[in-house]
Amino acid sequence: MDDIGHRWLNQHKVGERLPKAVGGEGIYVVDETGRRYLDGSSGPALFCLGHGHREVIEAIKAQYDKLSFGYSSNFTSDPIDQLAETIIEQAGGGMSRVSFVSGGSEATETAMKIALQYHVARGHSGRTHFFARRQSWHGYTFGALALSGHPARRKPYAGALMPVTHLSPANAYRPPAGVAPHELADHLAAEFEREIHRVGAERIAALFFEPVVGAAGGAVPAPDGYARKMREICSRYGILLIADEVMCGVGRCGTWRALAHDGVAPDVMYTAKGLAGGYAPLGAALMTEEVYRTIADSFGTIASVHTYSGHTAACAAGLAVQKVIIRDGLVEKCRTDGDYLMGALREAFGQNPHVGDIRGRGFFVALELVKDRETKAPFAPALGLQAKVKEEAFNRGLLCYPSPGTVDGYNGDHVILAPPYIISRGEIDQMIEMLKASIAAALARVAS
Ligand SMILES: Cc1ncc(COP(=O)(O)O)c(C=O)c1O
Repeated sequence: MDDIGHRWLNQHKVGERLPKAVGGEGIYVVDETGRRYLDGSSGPALFCLGHGHREVIEAIKAQYDKLSFGYSSNFTSDPIDQLAETIIEQAGGGMSRVSFVSGGSEATETAMKIALQYHVARGHSGRTHFFARRQSWHGYTFGALALSGHPARRKPYAGALMPVTHLSPANAYRPPAGVAPHELADHLAAEFEREIHRVGAERIAALFFEPVVGAAGGAVPAPDGYARKMREICSRYGILLIADEVMCGVGRCGTWRALAHDGVAPDVMYTAKGLAGGYAPLGAALMTEEVYRTIADSFGTIASVHTYSGHTAACAAGLAVQKVIIRDGLVEKCRTDGDYLMGALREAFGQNPHVGDIRGRGFFVALELVKDRETKAPFAPALGLQAKVKEEAFNRGLLCYPSPGTVDGYNGDHVILAPPYIISRGEIDQMIEMLKASIAAALARVAS
């Protein structure tokens, strides 16, 4: 690297110099100076088994020793077959077929195409319009970005994005004006139905939503009953319900399929991050047999594939990660230790005048930072509170996942914690202590 900064680009700011990561072990990442960082967010809720997991690495190596990729247009393989069986069984909820891709955005695109093909197969080719929600994130490819209710990230491309109807977020801490938290699910269901009538049901392909919203809202679970109401309305109007479980799925929220918590089965769902836990780029879109059969009977197959779809070594990584999760009871651990994590957060931050909300599910939790707890007013975005929390945490050797725009895409700050499933309770305590000090230091900086 020279004075112009890094020659590669990944959203770091002009001139920003990143430390060089050289190793990882368990919940820690190690930089070139030997400094260890406790990975309290698993990167972006990705490294579910932490770093340097020997069994996973050995499984990947063993696959590479045999064959890197049996190109999936020509061949099947044990890893892809077994991974498909495994995740269909883990997902439950009537999921029956899976299309593998290389990450979350590709999975979103695949789900969009499955929905469109399904309707065409049923003779409803006018159903091309999608519904999603504000304060949501579905990825940076064009279809996924069009779905995403994330104004700041949409901004450079807004003019080229396909029109999508964005419904209100399902956030009990910030319900629409005049709506009490216990009325929220009914209010949002009524809004959904109103919008269906406005747009015309015969034009609508699917509703996309994150069962627990990730970085766009800060680990926001929908209120009880919300998902069931949306399911019922979708079924009534022939609209597919599609769950984006890229971040919240694969056990992180205490059930392998996040929506299982709500007792709701989608028509299509997809996941990515925890699938191979960062050991390989891998995502998957799953669908019911009814969706699959309808498409297959008309088209023969799902018309969506990429060169790397079902990459054998990536599937081997995914299979190894899933085997460890199942064998070690890690979904259950996310649930029980998630309760411990939530209790510890409430203990540490419950009285903090600038922590407005502590929320989430399992090992997917967040603190929303506010200027005033009574009014829920956020800090001015120009203060960059969330960036300061990130910096203070980094300087203390803690990796967490702060983001801006919590309230409306521009205002608001939250910090996500999404530790690796393998974290111990002692390490949870340590992580919270570090976060407490980091938030205190960042708040002191914005106050001065
Ligand atoms: C809920 C959700 N959906 C989709 C995506 C896009 O996934 P990817 O970044 O792997 O393309 C993300 C990424 O953060 C996400 O959190």
